[in-house]
Amino acid sequence: MDRAITISGVDKTYVGRQGQAVPALSGMNLHIGAGEFVSLLGPSGCGKSTLLKIIAGLTRPSAGAIRIGADSVSGPSDFASLVFQKATLLRWRTILDNVLLHADIHGGRNPENIALARSLLDLVGLGAFTNAYPDELSGGMQQRAAIVRALMSRPELLLMDEPFGALDEFTREALNDMVLRLWEEERKTVIFVTHSVAEAVFLSDRIVIMGARPGRIITVMDVDLPRPRPENIRTAPEFYQLVAKVREVMGGTH
Ligand SMILES: Nc1ncnc2c1ncn2[C@@H]1O[C@H](COP(=O)(O)OP(=O)(O)OP(=O)(O)O)[C@@H](O)[C@H]1O
Ligand SMILES: [Mg+2]
Repeated sequence: MDRAITISGVDKTYVGRQGQAVPALSGMNLHIGAGEFVSLLGPSGCGKSTLLKIIAGLTRPSAGAIRIGADSVSGPSDFASLVFQKATLLRWRTILDNVLLHADIHGGRNPENIALARSLLDLVGLGAFTNAYPDELSGGMQQRAAIVRALMSRPELLLMDEPFGALDEFTREALNDMVLRLWEEERKTVIFVTHSVAEAVFLSDRIVIMGARPGRIITVMDVDLPRPRPENIRTAPEFYQLVAKVREVMGGTH
């Protein structure tokens, strides 16, 4: 279903351990079209994870509302799938069984979802590891499996919170290529949190640059690079120009 996401007047203030108010987000307004790929960039503590959790329905905003299409977000829902910075695979399940977790919980396995799981694992280069356990895989491989698991719940909306933060640059670029290919095939709405400007430029339609104290939107930039985006766009002058432009804006947020 093609449903846009509307974030209207969202504020979030946490209550700290000593009962003090911790302002995390203030006056967030953003409209994200169905099928759009949007990245959130900003300094540590500016509320990126908080915003993803509010969109996923895991945290309530202190004020304002999130709508997905015509529906208000009022609790955790099946339409969104969240991928955390560190892969959260279940140690005692094989990779295939991890990826089929959502199917096992909702309605069970069938030939279609098993075939889909295998084809997505193939697509991310894990076809030979379906019977391995998470401990037997590298961090990057576990992260690929976690992404496949998120896709297996057929989310309308994929929320990714620094999914590649802990990886080396080349593994990260390979996974960026994979995310881009998956997105081009599936056209899910994606909201992607990262600290890497190059990653945001490579993947996104738009980049939301946030500032801290309180967390807020500084500016939203269009990434007017062609689609489909070839991997070697990373070495193109227009790519560097965009990276430089984003970095300049971000320089004022720290
Ligand atoms: N559960 C919580 N209780 C109290 N304060 C919180 C809680 N979660 C986050 N905060 C505060 O809210 C603010 C925003 O945190 P958040 O984790 O959303 O930032 P972030 O942009 O994701 O940072 P990073 O880039 O470091 O992951 C911070 O000041 C943080 O201390
Ligand atoms: Mg965070």
